[in-house]
Amino acid sequence: MTTEIDPYQAAATAARVLAKETGVVHHDVLVVLGSGWTPAADEFGTPTAEIIVTDLPGFAAPAVAGHAGKLRSVRVGSLNVLLQLGRTHFYEKNDAQAVVHAVRTALAAGVKTVVLTNAAGSLHTTWPPGTPVLIKDQINLTGGTPLVGARFVDVTEIYSKRLRDLAKQVKPDLPEGVYTAFHGPQYETPAEIAMVKAIGGDLVGMSTALEAIAAREGNAEVLGISLVTNLAAGMTGEKLNHEEVLEAGKQAATSMGKLLVEVVSKL
Ligand code: HPA
Repeated sequence: MTTEIDPYQAAATAARVLAKETGVVHHDVLVVLGSGWTPAADEFGTPTAEIIVTDLPGFAAPAVAGHAGKLRSVRVGSLNVLLQLGRTHFYEKNDAQAVVHAVRTALAAGVKTVVLTNAAGSLHTTWPPGTPVLIKDQINLTGGTPLVGARFVDVTEIYSKRLRDLAKQVKPDLPEGVYTAFHGPQYETPAEIAMVKAIGGDLVGMSTALEAIAAREGNAEVLGISLVTNLAAGMTGEKLNHEEVLEAGKQAATSMGKLLVEVVSKL
């Protein structure tokens, strides 16, 4: 006999509470906003409801400054959009189930489109801080997966080509790159960045990859957008720090929000 809580049942339970707390029975789109992106959420306008994630069963309290831990329900055209302000990172508790609980809750609430945003380090000097980059694929170096047991999920097109094309209709000059996810919370060493370059990565970060896997398991279409907050370790001769990442996010959040609203309006 197992006493472990089934994560899918836990998500279904959280989705029922979400419906009750927001008064919205069915959500269509989930938008996850990463570090310092809170002002981006404001671009979606006045929410019909806002709740604190810890009001829902199974959600961890936010551990990192700049991660607000709120859910807003907003209406965009005919769509009910769930905005997630702040996320659970793998480095917080080493718990991949906790990392994807919000995505699974959204899936259980009816979501078919998952938009994942993040702050990332860039391996390209042509993508300086402030550059939004579409994620075209990922390399999961976290050592983790939200999938337990023989769940052979196809991730050939983990980030939807259709949604990337849609985003490029809004902003044709959006570059595309491969997001390389590390466990963190330490930033990468210059040797690790050299490795990322050698294996085909363009961006580095500590989120998103496990959420994308969980979304694909649930057959949602995934759009990923990184905001470059810094050049990757060893590229500038300067050290990396979290404040710099938050500050770059803050500065670009409003324009990122406008971009996200335009993309979601086209869904
Ligand atoms: N590395 C990992 N995660 C990050 C970075 C980085 O350079 N910048 C923002 N998040």
